Amino acid sequence: MSDASKICKVAVAGLGTVGVGTVRLLQEQADLLEARCGRKLVVTAVSARDRTRDRGCNLDGITWFDDAVEMARSADADIFVELIGGSDGPAKASCEAALASGKHVVTANKALVAHHGHEMALVAEEAGLGLAYEAAVAGGIPVIKSIREGLAGNKIRTLHGILNGTCNYILTTMRETGRSFDDVLAEAQELGYAEADPTFDVDGIDAAHKLAILASLAFGAKLDFEGVYVEGIRHITPLDIEYANELGYKFKLLGIAEDCGNGIFQRVHPVMVPTDAPIASVEGVFNAVVTEGDFVGTTVMEGRGAGGGPTASAVVSDIVDIACGRITPTFGMPAKKLVEKSTLPMDSHSGAYYVRLSVVDRPGVMADITAAMRDHEVSLESVIQRGRDPGAPVTVVLTMHETSEAAIRGALEEIEKLDAVKEPPRLIRIERFQD
Ligand code: NDP
Ligand code: HSE
Repeated sequence: MSDASKICKVAVAGLGTVGVGTVRLLQEQADLLEARCGRKLVVTAVSARDRTRDRGCNLDGITWFDDAVEMARSADADIFVELIGGSDGPAKASCEAALASGKHVVTANKALVAHHGHEMALVAEEAGLGLAYEAAVAGGIPVIKSIREGLAGNKIRTLHGILNGTCNYILTTMRETGRSFDDVLAEAQELGYAEADPTFDVDGIDAAHKLAILASLAFGAKLDFEGVYVEGIRHITPLDIEYANELGYKFKLLGIAEDCGNGIFQRVHPVMVPTDAPIASVEGVFNAVVTEGDFVGTTVMEGRGAGGGPTASAVVSDIVDIACGRITPTFGMPAKKLVEKSTLPMDSHSGAYYVRLSVVDRPGVMADITAAMRDHEVSLESVIQRGRDPGAPVTVVLTMHETSEAAIRGALEEIEKLDAVKEPPRLIRIERFQD
């Protein structure tokens, strides 16, 4: 029998994909959670916009609030769970109100954490309250806890990951079925993977929010979302997917963070990875995070990165920690000790590249292109030209050995000016990982 004074009361703001998943998990696994926490976890209050909508979960006896900020202030709750979304607006206001009124905060909101996590952590830590966000990165994979606690003995120099389930689902399905980008995106939205505004997914912003959070945790650095270089997947065409296949690569949208001592790289962009690289086998809505620690070496975590069940699993893990009194510094060390690390510019990145050109099929064109490469000290690895159509544009695909981004961009600037080049060159980075 639980002692009523020991009950841990939970208020949930937002009853969409994740909110409903969380309420259902707390209700359906109530006995298991009580055994694990040594106290009951009870949802006492909820908030969403439309009170009349059937949510598909049992809300009997739970106090309804139309206003999430009012619920954060006045609900009878120990923990306020924010599952509304958005970096500002009611999500931010309600979390601030909850902390101000002495409630722990759990959120799945990476936009909020990436933009305001540092200030919120300062407030929470000053007040001795938890601010937990396991669900904000990689859905159901316990990556925050793994880096913050499991890898606490290591200096992490680099990490990379598939951080957006929607993009991975789109790239996988486009490759497997040949269906269009728009068609597959609509399906990902129906499945509840995509953000309310899916441009955040396909333009790489959601993955950038997550990468900034991971970089802060891994490197003991102050969050620097503005320092993330971001490119999305809209420009990936079936033609590029076909060439990647022919060259032995798959497309992935990766987030990559690296602490180089003199600054950090934080970058999110599509990459071509060898089909036999471990990360290439992470398909569909699955996410994966790979870290390199100085004592542990490589660790790989993989699992479902989006959807109601997996994300609720991560939200509830934070609720359980707080209910058990396991309140840790938000970013692995007190927020006031996090240091500012400067961002290294993409021009200083070095790697291999794929370039696709549309050029007029006539003698001497390849000589002009390779001359520009030579002048910028870019070393060519392979060339593919398909078909023969004298005087008309044909596709030429080049891959480059390791070179600096400044050099390849300099060469492409010259190549684009050639009158035989009919479209802006398409540049895609290749990451081999096993090098
Ligand atoms: P949904 O759009 O499905 O749900 C959002 C909910 O917030 C809705 O129930 C909506 O109410 C409610 N809401 C909106 N405005 C207010 C307000 N002013 N006051 C109270 N409630 C409000 O979003 P998701 O469940 O998909 O996402 C929630 C959060 O979880 C986001 O931060 C998202 O980034 C994050 N996340 C989502 C994942 C996923 O797979 N979907 C995975 C990992 C994180 P109503 O229903 O009445 O319109
Ligand atoms: N829209 C996000 C994704 C949800 O597709 O990964 C999980 O954060």
